[in-house]
Amino acid sequence: MTDINEDSATVTVEHRGSIAIWTLNRPDRMNALSRATVRQLGRLARQTAQNRAIRVVILTGEGDKAFCAGADLKERQGMSMDDVQQFLHLYRASFSAVDAMPQPVIAAINGVAFGGGLELALACDLRVMSSTTHVGLTETSLAIIPGAGGTQRLPRVVGEARAKEMILLAQRLDAAKALAIGLVTRVTEGNESVLDCALRLAEPLVNAAPIAIAAALTAIDAASNMSLEEGLTLERTCYELTLGSQDRLEALAAFAEKRKPVYRGI
Ligand code: COA
Repeated sequence: MTDINEDSATVTVEHRGSIAIWTLNRPDRMNALSRATVRQLGRLARQTAQNRAIRVVILTGEGDKAFCAGADLKERQGMSMDDVQQFLHLYRASFSAVDAMPQPVIAAINGVAFGGGLELALACDLRVMSSTTHVGLTETSLAIIPGAGGTQRLPRVVGEARAKEMILLAQRLDAAKALAIGLVTRVTEGNESVLDCALRLAEPLVNAAPIAIAAALTAIDAASNMSLEEGLTLERTCYELTLGSQDRLEALAAFAEKRKPVYRGI
């Protein structure tokens, strides 16, 4: 395990082959998001986006209590209004950097994900969750609203009515409910750890064609921001990115030779 970055290693990074595992590492504060943590996440996302050796990222939290309890409310207490504004800007920029990564990012929700913690998971492409934990955008109970994309990303994932109910009532959903509304796509079974659950999901993505995966993510992410016609044009552009790739030729050759393709991301 290697620590990254300057001040303190609030996010630790481990590489297992071409899977990067990022772990929020502030268990004494329920892995809450300090300024340093949010800055590190943004930097990691921008660096990893350029690193073709990494095919999948899994984001999780240290321990079994919390994925992330949202903004660090203790740090927030000492902030001026200007500090809070700057922090929100940093928050949005870092989460957008995670959202924009060409590699699939899987949130492995090992413990509670509240407020900014769930907003971070919503900036990921896929979410899996421990069967024993809870998630929610609880900000209205603190007299604020989600400020790192939650009001925009949650309705895109679960639909407007469910998002309104979750946010207005500051609900804390259990895993069965989160699965039922499509907020997460898998929940752990039996004694399986959430990391193992995420690794199982990641495994086929490791050998998938990176240009196709990135193009699919770009097209799908844009779907809810565009008219159908604009979306179909973007899909065409994304499709063309795959047409010129050597991996596409490798897929055809492997099919003809009855073997598994080996994709290199070129
Ligand atoms: N920021 C900073 N510290 C936090 C935190 C946060 N968001 N959430 C929890 N902690 C700290 C607690 O203050 C406590 O520290 P202490 O032992 O020094 O007092 C420690 O983490 C453990 O939390 P505790 O509340 O004792 O654990 P719990 O298991 O009873 O409850 C939570 C855990 C996450 C349910 C509860 O702490 C909580 O509701 N936190 C706020 C979550 C929230 O509303 N986030 C949205 C922010 S916008």
